[in-house]
Amino acid sequence: MKRNALQQCFCRTAIFLLLGCMTGCSSQNSASEGTLSSEDTLVTEVAPVSESVSGIPAINENFEGDSHLAIPRGDTVLEIIPDGVNNSNALKISNRTDSWNGVNFEADAFRGNSIKVNAAIKSAGPATRISIQYDVDGNTTYNWIVSVATGSDSFITANGAYDVPGNAENIIIYIEGDTLDDIFLDNFTAEIDGTYIAPDAIAAPASVDISAYPSLKNLYEDYFHMGVAINPAIVSNENFSSLVCSQFDSITLENNLKPESIIDKEATLADLDANRSQLVLDFTTAKAELDWAASQGMTIRGHTLIWHSQTPNWIFYKDYDINGELADRTLMLTRMENYIKDVFAWADTNYPGLFSAWDIVNEAIADNGGLRDSLWRQTIGDDYIEQAFAFARKYAPADIELFYNDYNSYQGLKQGYIIEVLEPIAAAGNLDGVGMQGHISTSVKPELFIKALEKYANQLNVVIHVTELDIVMPNTPAAEYDQGAYHQNLFSTFIEAKKAGIPLESVSFWGLTDTLSWKSNDKPLLFRGDLSAKPAFYGVTYAITGESLEAPSLPEADLSPIEEDFEGSSHLAVPRGDASLKVVTDESQNGEHSLLIYNRKENWNGGMIDITNFKGHTITFSAYVKTASPTAKISANIDGVWPNLVVNDTSSGDWVLFEGTYLVPDDVIAIELYFETEDTTDIYVDNITIKLADES
Ligand code: XIL
Repeated sequence: MKRNALQQCFCRTAIFLLLGCMTGCSSQNSASEGTLSSEDTLVTEVAPVSESVSGIPAINENFEGDSHLAIPRGDTVLEIIPDGVNNSNALKISNRTDSWNGVNFEADAFRGNSIKVNAAIKSAGPATRISIQYDVDGNTTYNWIVSVATGSDSFITANGAYDVPGNAENIIIYIEGDTLDDIFLDNFTAEIDGTYIAPDAIAAPASVDISAYPSLKNLYEDYFHMGVAINPAIVSNENFSSLVCSQFDSITLENNLKPESIIDKEATLADLDANRSQLVLDFTTAKAELDWAASQGMTIRGHTLIWHSQTPNWIFYKDYDINGELADRTLMLTRMENYIKDVFAWADTNYPGLFSAWDIVNEAIADNGGLRDSLWRQTIGDDYIEQAFAFARKYAPADIELFYNDYNSYQGLKQGYIIEVLEPIAAAGNLDGVGMQGHISTSVKPELFIKALEKYANQLNVVIHVTELDIVMPNTPAAEYDQGAYHQNLFSTFIEAKKAGIPLESVSFWGLTDTLSWKSNDKPLLFRGDLSAKPAFYGVTYAITGESLEAPSLPEADLSPIEEDFEGSSHLAVPRGDASLKVVTDESQNGEHSLLIYNRKENWNGGMIDITNFKGHTITFSAYVKTASPTAKISANIDGVWPNLVVNDTSSGDWVLFEGTYLVPDDVIAIELYFETEDTTDIYVDNITIKLADES
């Protein structure tokens, strides 16, 4: 079964189930989706989002009482059990057969509003999420609201916020997790954040006139292809599709050529013996987009064949049964070979010449280096990447370029591992290009990105595509302008690189509008939901024309000292990486409270304080730190360069005073100071002071 199709159909069925229960549908209907267990623990009573007395929508579900808002997502079994927070009831979510299986909460009433969500979550799986799904113009998007590091046997609090678009439909908030472990949920709340905007006050977004926009593909024709990721909503809407045609000459299907979209479970299982080593494929969901691309003379980057994500787990099992044994190397190699062969054969038969490149392997290197421990690796072994490229070379038409594609591939450490893995593949003649995903923030220095790009090209002798470009809108007073200026800077750097002979062939954005983006909260794209062009779009065009974006006039930066002793009710520190932060009373250098930084998974995980206001000024800073680690550091967060500003011996186990001065660079958009250690030990911090040096 295909994920998108399934989720879509599930979403509709869940709502049907909900209405069905109210209109007395037969239990057969509900049994076909999500199995429910014994009578007294059944979660069958579902109701729409509850309203608080004031008429403002809210979900408040603690799994006490008789009726519950939870709806099974996928094949899950939902049960109320007595092991909740403080011995109350909790929801147990079991029988998860795919990572997106979990529990749904119907959330249409939040349309057009900012919401905050909160839940207590427990799971043996390492990462559990509160996510949101909705349709915009018939296209379903799935976004994370918050991901928490679970994996222990205690409940972890998840807090997140989300802006639900005003044109979203079929809105579902759901809980999911990376692995198939059971998930336990308690005290789930979703409420309006700020002022409630009632449905009749939410205007449907109109599309603006796009005819006068300069064309990126024309402006950049001497340099590289301009690409964009599309989805079915784009091709079925004339405003969207004409914008794509006028701006871009290369497209990527955002989801519909991924393994979960094209592997047909039902057809594969229909004849297990015949299909044991060959998955049955069905490209129906990709057809509308491919037909449209072909009719518009576009070229396509195929995305993606071998990946750990959006790939059904059952394909890795001997009998396609996740309760059975994993398939062995020989069987998995045959399945892989057939899969790659069949995808290329289908594409070549149905759309000859349409594809110019394919991401053969996606995201195979772990964030901390080494190979990601995917099911491909577990079943085939460490050479699975090499094998995939060899099969791809064997079956791909000669004019299709074979790519390895990854995120954070500009970061030195990860780049080292990627090159190490790709070198033998390039030497064997099976690699044509590296796709550097561009899910970045404005703190990534363009020069650093280009340096990495050049290194791939030189060391592997391949071409480069910048893929999946979406640059998080910074959290600064002139956010849109800063994002635009960053785009201008980045694209100027791309142009210079190209002029210097670096083989950058193509740059693709990961979506058309902020509203359609998989990270819509981050507003990372060139156009708003109504197709109006953002400064980001003009930044890209001005990199060619040499014009300048108009800087908004802003109030002077606040240069008043930062004093944080963790005694008040609101605090300035934010987590870095997976770390969690909490104000505690068991330790304090002064007063009653201090900040505890815990749940650190990497040495760079910690707690950060924003110092962007001090850009261009010298500051002095001081803080007390206590940790069981032998040393601790205060560092500055400029992505790609993380200077350690002060490193102190903390082996005494007592509070240690950290002090320093720092000239905060002017050429960054946002910058933070952060606390870290050489390991993942907890850190206590108290009495942070940051002020202009000349004030001291
Ligand atoms: C994302 C899509 O944008 C989402 O719609 C989907 O729910 C998850 O995948 N790296 C990749 C892309 O290679 O395929 C991912 O796309 C984003 C991260």
